[in-house]
Amino acid sequence: MRTAVVTGGNRGIGRAVVESLLDKGYRVVALTRTPADIPGAEVVHGDLSSARTVAAAADAIAEVCPSIDVLVHNAGVWPTRLTHNEDGLEQAFVVNHLAPFQLNLALEDRVARVVQVSAGLHVKGLVDPDRTPTGADFHRIRTYCDTKLANLLMLPLFARRWQDAGVTIDAVHPGVVRTRLGDPGGALGLVLRAVKLTWAKPSAATGPVVRLASGSPGTGRYFHLDEEQPVPHDPELAEALWAQALSLAR
Ligand SMILES: NC(=O)c1ccc[n+]([C@@H]2O[C@H](COP(=O)([O-])OP(=O)(O)OC[C@H]3O[C@@H](n4cnc5c(N)ncnc54)[C@H](OP(=O)(O)O)[C@@H]3O)[C@@H](O)[C@H]2O)c1
Repeated sequence: MRTAVVTGGNRGIGRAVVESLLDKGYRVVALTRTPADIPGAEVVHGDLSSARTVAAAADAIAEVCPSIDVLVHNAGVWPTRLTHNEDGLEQAFVVNHLAPFQLNLALEDRVARVVQVSAGLHVKGLVDPDRTPTGADFHRIRTYCDTKLANLLMLPLFARRWQDAGVTIDAVHPGVVRTRLGDPGGALGLVLRAVKLTWAKPSAATGPVVRLASGSPGTGRYFHLDEEQPVPHDPELAEALWAQALSLAR
């Protein structure tokens, strides 16, 4: 039986992906920071908010998964206010960018394929390695885009690193669907939730993610839904972010 690990598998797109992979006959391990009961899936606790907790999450996954056919990095945040983790780093920079980076390195000896749930909004990103990590350039809309861009810039570097080992990695924008992503709470949150009622359900986003997860030969590619599009090209920035992530991860 093929094993899939899905981060943030308790709700939103992650939960729908877990259910779809279960339907396809996978053994699914859902990594969640909040306790969850997901019929058919194994739930492993994992908080992706700091290098320390990501290391613990990697250990917890490794303990139950000697091998992983596909690791789906789905967990993500769209913060509407600046929050720092225990290392003084901005939360989206950690959850959206550093956590997948660190998990990839920690699990690379046992994983065959990685799918990163990205976002079309990466095109609006302008990541600054000196300011974005601490949120010095925090912006309630742009920080999400910046951190998704940082994450996507790592894609060709992982593809190159894993070329000889045969490990593959692709990224996908899953579509815009109705989840709690970016919910600011309060009155504005209520308005946003009302607007989102017109959006598609999370299950609408599973197709592109699951098709990519369950076997599409290739690596280092970015898909907008099912359409392959260019990966952002900035080798100098990508190398700088890689070196920085190495120093920040444990
Ligand atoms: N919704 C869209 O329209 C859309 C569009 C493009 C891309 N995406 C991407 O799709 C992915 C899933 O988003 P979604 O829309 O399903 O959002 P969501 O409903 O807000 O779900 C986010 C998931 O990430 C988890 N998460 C957040 N911070 C975490 C942390 N520190 N440690 C562990 N897990 C954490 C959440 O867990 P908790 O329940 O514990 O908070 C939750 O399971 C994200 O990567 C997002 O960028 C979404």
